[in-house]
Amino acid sequence: MNEVVYLNGIFLPLEDARVHIEDRGFQFADGVYEVIACIGGTFLDMELHLERFYRSATAIGISPPVTKRKLGELAHQLYLRNAHLENATIYIQLTRGRAPRSHIPPVPNRPTLALTARKLELPDDTAFTQGIRAITIRDMRWQRCDIKSIALLPNVLGRMEARRSGAEEAFWVDNNGHILEGCSSNVLAVIDQTLVTHPLDNHVLGGITRHLCLQLAKHHGIAIQERAWHPYEAGMEECMVTSTSWMLLPVHCINERQLPSPGPITQQLRHWLMQHLASLSKKKTILP
Ligand SMILES: Cc1ncc(COP(=O)(O)O)c(C=O)c1O
Repeated sequence: MNEVVYLNGIFLPLEDARVHIEDRGFQFADGVYEVIACIGGTFLDMELHLERFYRSATAIGISPPVTKRKLGELAHQLYLRNAHLENATIYIQLTRGRAPRSHIPPVPNRPTLALTARKLELPDDTAFTQGIRAITIRDMRWQRCDIKSIALLPNVLGRMEARRSGAEEAFWVDNNGHILEGCSSNVLAVIDQTLVTHPLDNHVLGGITRHLCLQLAKHHGIAIQERAWHPYEAGMEECMVTSTSWMLLPVHCINERQLPSPGPITQQLRHWLMQHLASLSKKKTILP
């Protein structure tokens, strides 16, 4: 299998792609990233992902070396060059580039831009029926979780803790016990027939799948509240996670609390999401 990647202006085999030891991504995790799903050649919400990517880059003062449109084209070309992939995630990483190790970066800097493609295993009906188990852990991340930073050590440790506990995801909780989000997912609950999720602020990443699911729910007349909530709230009926890789999966257990899974609203949402994906794959690839 010939895996092709993009690095600083050229497409090349994965095995030949090299980044310098003094790249600030390696030295300081000084960079941002994005993950976009491509389903049978159609990118899901490409424009929203690119907007978030440029917003993250701007927030930490890195200018991407290509325009948004060009980056969309690169992602598309990369997908086509990895002909073995049907459904894929395109991973985009931008760092502040190579420089002698010092906290203060040189001006100007030459950012490193890398794109990779890998197989996307969309959860099938069995995975959906099975759902996932989650634990809660105290939030120990920085105060700008709205930036999609490559500094993911807390998320890695959170996932390791989940794995040790026999769970698939760890949910960050704040000092008041409110659920913020998962290590790589947003978390939505159904409380008294209302879809509830933490509002968009600096404690959560504005997930593109979260956005899509809220849009679909709204369109179909489901009540939505973006507010703080905790996992032992009276009236809590269902819980689910959303992300580009998982799309939408029910949560059947948070810590020791068992939940009906998949609950009826979670099932409805999955149905609408699958319909949406099917309608997209009938269209031609949409570039920004
Ligand atoms: C911390 C965090 N929250 C939420 C998400 C879900 O975002 P999206 O739906 O855009 O993949 C991710 C995805 O990686 C994430 O890392």
